[in-house]
Amino acid sequence: MTTRIRTRFDLTDRVAIVTGSSKGIGEAMARGLAEFGAKVIVSSRSQEAVDEVAATYREDGLEATGIACHVGDPAARQQLIDRTIATYGRLDILINNAATNPYYGPVEGLTAAAYQKTMDVNLTAALELSNLALPHLRASGKGSVIHISSIEGLHANANFAAYNISKAGIIMLGKSQATEWAADNIRVNVICPGLVKTKLSRALWEDERAEAQWKNAIPLNRMATPDELAGLAVYLASDAASYVTGTVVVADGGMLG
Ligand SMILES: NC(=O)c1ccc[n+]([C@@H]2O[C@H](COP(=O)([O-])OP(=O)(O)OC[C@H]3O[C@@H](n4cnc5c(N)ncnc54)[C@H](OP(=O)(O)O)[C@@H]3O)[C@@H](O)[C@H]2O)c1
Repeated sequence: MTTRIRTRFDLTDRVAIVTGSSKGIGEAMARGLAEFGAKVIVSSRSQEAVDEVAATYREDGLEATGIACHVGDPAARQQLIDRTIATYGRLDILINNAATNPYYGPVEGLTAAAYQKTMDVNLTAALELSNLALPHLRASGKGSVIHISSIEGLHANANFAAYNISKAGIIMLGKSQATEWAADNIRVNVICPGLVKTKLSRALWEDERAEAQWKNAIPLNRMATPDELAGLAVYLASDAASYVTGTVVVADGGMLG
């Protein structure tokens, strides 16, 4: 059998960075890329955590290296790119996944400091890492940037103003990059997950009353697992999506309708 279409998903020889990939959605996406052949940089704030994840991948015959990077730290961002190039000699795929939400409460109580921290980690880091990656993505000839936004970037969730704003911003960052970088065959796309069972969303699934509220709002009647998001990342990173750029893909169990 010839595999004319299936080979388009193959990521052999591509090098990928996934920020915030020691756990949750980022970990599942890093694993997915590695299973399709990519050499993956597993990254988060903790070197110990990323070393552990990369080691489990290597035990399964996959190629992975752990490089710590607090995405809000400019020096750490530069180091992440430099060490990736020193390790694998190229960079083809960047997934900006790490995010934070330091403030939960009404918009009038949102301080400039909490707002700025949210923007630094959720939005500015994605801009800066993309720019640092750009020369390498150009050299790749098949560069792919994927930003992880949220359905909160498309509709406002009460008490999450800074997070909502950062997630709306990253959508337009991706669209702007897609417009300008298509000339270099660099594709930029955005994934908006709905509710996914991770540490970040713990408050929503640890408390039975909270769970009853959101369950009714989701037609599929459950949260996603991180693994259910990984296929989208593989698809958007690969030649299977070679004509897909500047788009926003929602995976929310039907929540937004
Ligand atoms: N879970 C959901 O329901 C949901 C819904 C929509 C969108 N999202 C988005 O999906 C992405 C991943 O979320 P998740 O739910 O998978 O979160 P998670 O399970 O809490 O994992 C977050 C990951 O990011 C790392 N991280 C946190 N702060 C970081 C920083 N400043 N620099 C670098 N790495 C950092 C964490 O590792 P360390 O602690 O070791 O740094 C961890 O690997 C985020 O962009 C989030 O906004 C999540």
